[in-house]
Amino acid sequence: PFQNLSRSIPPSGSRELRLLKRIGKIDPESIEAYILSGGYARLKQALALGSEGVIREVLDSKLMGRGGAAFPTGRKWEAVAKAPAKPHYLVCNADESEPGTFKDRLLMEGDPFAVLEGMTIAGLATGCEKGFLYLRGEYPLAGKRLALALDLARFAGFLGENILESGLNFDIEIRRGAGAYICGEETALFNSIEGKRGEPRNKPPFPVQEGVFGKPTVINNVETLVNIPLILKEGGKAYAQLGTESSTGPKLFCLSGHVARPGVYETTFGPTLRQMIEIAGGVPEGRKIQAILLGGAAGVFVGPDQLDIPLTFEGTRAANATLGSGVIIIFDDRVDMTDILTRIAEFFRAESCGQCVPCRVGTVRQEELFHRLRSQQPLVSREEELNLLKEIGQVMRDASICGLGQTASSAVESALKNLKGLFAERGQP
Ligand code: NAI
Ligand code: SF4
Repeated sequence: PFQNLSRSIPPSGSRELRLLKRIGKIDPESIEAYILSGGYARLKQALALGSEGVIREVLDSKLMGRGGAAFPTGRKWEAVAKAPAKPHYLVCNADESEPGTFKDRLLMEGDPFAVLEGMTIAGLATGCEKGFLYLRGEYPLAGKRLALALDLARFAGFLGENILESGLNFDIEIRRGAGAYICGEETALFNSIEGKRGEPRNKPPFPVQEGVFGKPTVINNVETLVNIPLILKEGGKAYAQLGTESSTGPKLFCLSGHVARPGVYETTFGPTLRQMIEIAGGVPEGRKIQAILLGGAAGVFVGPDQLDIPLTFEGTRAANATLGSGVIIIFDDRVDMTDILTRIAEFFRAESCGQCVPCRVGTVRQEELFHRLRSQQPLVSREEELNLLKEIGQVMRDASICGLGQTASSAVESALKNLKGLFAERGQP
């Protein structure tokens, strides 16, 4: 199954597979196969480098988090390593739930030991003895393989007490989510681990100050952690030479929708959106592209006139778009985009945790408004309805507690801005 999902792509970047190199090539249930393919050599290197040395490499690499928000990983690690409050915790955010994102699943199913090795290096470098891997509940195969990998790693001395005779201890516990999108939000995830309702907390304090159980916590995405052994292998400075100045290293992109070969693609940062779509075989049947969703439901729609956007953090930012977690969903000219927008509005209404008013009420009002526009029964004129939509979006952005409410209007607003004549084409009022 892995071979069907992982493909090498060499757009303007390197052909070399770094993150996906083992996927479909080695048995993900064999620790011997992992070690023979170079696995756990980086943990040994990390133990020799020590905490400061490892953090220096990560800072030099300029690695930015791959969960969607692109915060510098080294800065998080440094803050937790120096935090006086004890104990420190490490959390791997594996609650991959952004619509259109399926890269972490591939890594966990196809290379589970690499996830554990990245977590162990991160935990030891930041002074943690305990790590949690919070796994999306709908990923049973990943859960099975990770649980087996944990047992094998412990038995071989790569986890647990006195790791590889270093005198250091670190162990990992898997916690499974139960289908709530909001539990991927880091502070809701902490509450869920603590046995509370999965509701976000106000930030600051940031997790590096007060995370799970109120203690300094490093929380990183799966793909971010799988980059760690690679950074140690290449060296932080050499890693920073991959990609562009501000978007370093390799990145996984998830292509889906109207594309000939949907799947997970690895490339160093830099290709344009057009190049990525071409590499995935283009749009089938020679159809025209109508819209592309970058970054998932919390992301931004761009139109066919924006295909030259470079797929880098800085390139997407300059185009008022987002790279998010690497989602690229393509819609051809047959799709009724108002259906898609209504579906996105429904999604946010359903997934809002309901804790704060702007999001709890705003997501309902946003969905109602789309149903009215689609059914051609606006309360007021179409123009006034669209102004109301903007107002709702503004309030959610300004006053919501967490990223869900703050981004619940992002995709729909960008569609109205970038996809010309959206409702007019349907003969809406
Ligand atoms: P954020 O920008 O608030 O924070 C990003 C990270 O940086 C967090 O870990 C935060 O604690 C840390 N941080 C921010 N400022 C800090 C500071 N001054 N000191 C220390 N740490 C700091 O973004 P958030 O809400 O964590 O994530 C939003 C993103 O998540 C969106 O861009 C979206 O694309 C993505 N997302 C991804 C999903 C997936 O399945 N991969 C699901 C849903 C959203
Ligand atoms: Fe909950 Fe939405 Fe408020 Fe976030 S913004 S805390 S999801 S109600």
